[in-house]
Amino acid sequence: MKSAEELKDMKGKEKISMLTCYDYSFAKAMDGKVDMILVGDSLGNVVLGYERTKKVTMQDMIRHVEAVSRGATDTHIVGDLPYGSYETKEGALENARKLISAGAHSVKPEGKPEIVEFLVKNDVSVVAHLGLLPQTAEKLGVVRGEEIISQATKMEEIGAFVLIIECVPNSLAKEITNALTIPTIGIGAGNKVDGQVLVSYDMLGLYPDLQAKFVRQYADLKKEVSKAVEQYSSDVKKGSFPSEEESFK
Ligand code: KIV
Repeated sequence: MKSAEELKDMKGKEKISMLTCYDYSFAKAMDGKVDMILVGDSLGNVVLGYERTKKVTMQDMIRHVEAVSRGATDTHIVGDLPYGSYETKEGALENARKLISAGAHSVKPEGKPEIVEFLVKNDVSVVAHLGLLPQTAEKLGVVRGEEIISQATKMEEIGAFVLIIECVPNSLAKEITNALTIPTIGIGAGNKVDGQVLVSYDMLGLYPDLQAKFVRQYADLKKEVSKAVEQYSSDVKKGSFPSEEESFK
């Protein structure tokens, strides 16, 4: 399992691979195969079926971080601080500690440098997140503007060990990456960054509402699941499942 320091040291040497994960079985399959797992509040979309992530609660996050940490014992786990859980510094610290107790090694709020700084000062490892901030964005889409560069350098100064940059143009992500000594991990931010993260349900072809241009689909699990379920249903109806071997004598 890579520590925050080891992940930080990967900049310029090796790209960082990160995927989201929400449960025990997927965590088992991913453990040791990526550098970082993010228990993202995207679970609100892909697991709970909400349109946006705002409704995800601390209770949801704790339960899913616990499940993932039981399955991924050899991978750095980042727990997302959900919307409303880091309104005050003290509240953020209390909730960050809950995610760490549940099994996360670091936490990720969206934006909010004052919260990042307070958490770091209180010995919590923090992944910062800039660019598109899905919890509060009015609409989801590409975020432009040179001000992200100074926001990013601020995140580095105050002690974030990694920065996630979401949905920004390739050239801006490159400028941010070159300006920082901590690694940048992009999602929809091109390939001139220090690592990549994707929502696992998107790259596995499991999320039916997927639209994003930046996702490369590595499998078509939705099709595989439907095919297997149809076959099972047909076997049950024909009486060919279970067989003698699948029954107790
Ligand atoms: O919740 C999530 O999956 C995220 C990624 C999109 C970075 O925050």
